[in-house]
Amino acid sequence: MSAAYTDIHCHIVPGIDDGASDLEESLAMAAAASLDGATTVIATPHQLGGNAHVTASAIRAGVASLNGAIAAAGIELEVLPGADVRIEPELPKLLRRGEVLTLADRGKHVLLELPHEVYFPLETLLAALSKQGLTGILSHPERNRGMQARPETVAEVVRAGGLIQITAGSLTGGFGGSARKMAEWCVRKRLVHFVASDAHDTSRRPFGLSAARDAVAVLADAELADLVVCENPAKVAEGVEVVAAGRSGRPGSGRGWFARLTG
Ligand SMILES: [Fe+2]
Repeated sequence: MSAAYTDIHCHIVPGIDDGASDLEESLAMAAAASLDGATTVIATPHQLGGNAHVTASAIRAGVASLNGAIAAAGIELEVLPGADVRIEPELPKLLRRGEVLTLADRGKHVLLELPHEVYFPLETLLAALSKQGLTGILSHPERNRGMQARPETVAEVVRAGGLIQITAGSLTGGFGGSARKMAEWCVRKRLVHFVASDAHDTSRRPFGLSAARDAVAVLADAELADLVVCENPAKVAEGVEVVAAGRSGRPGSGRGWFARLTG
């Protein structure tokens, strides 16, 4: 029996990005998520980068109509609006203008996506977001080539005030050995705050969060597994700020625990 959880990263809105291609696929994804234990999912269509045409209003409208279809189909799942945002220099301004969505549309957490091939320092961006009352959550660093080459960059992001989201499939081998190795390293180092599905469909990129939760429990412990799959994601959905373990507040205050963690 899997525990109820919230998924903060999935591409379930039909026909808006490279996720669900139509309503039928969205409903299949919703049914799969519910069966796996999800009660809430935050829909995160890509915004910016190659998806500059995806607007906040289109995401909100797509989520509203999807929720209607999910209810009509008798599936017990709530979908909330959000976005998987490609990092661009204009991002803080676009967030301020409301053109880019925060997770659950709560104005607290922003899901950040780096280009897959490179890592660049996020300190300036995270500080700018923090000034706007926002916390950046970096999605799947374990799949980024630049970060795979320098795993300590994950700790740099956390030290700068960012939170880390590992993708479920990385922990279960769906993205190959390098991603799995780094995902496991992050979990063992407790440099992870969320595990999310990043589901795009029900076959190639499925949910699998209950299996990932089991993997975290084996690699670390059940407490961390519950924290990253259940407790922290639920806070994001409710608009409650998630603070990294040992950090008392916003960026810059975490050096003590960081030194202990990596020393
Ligand atoms: Fe994504």
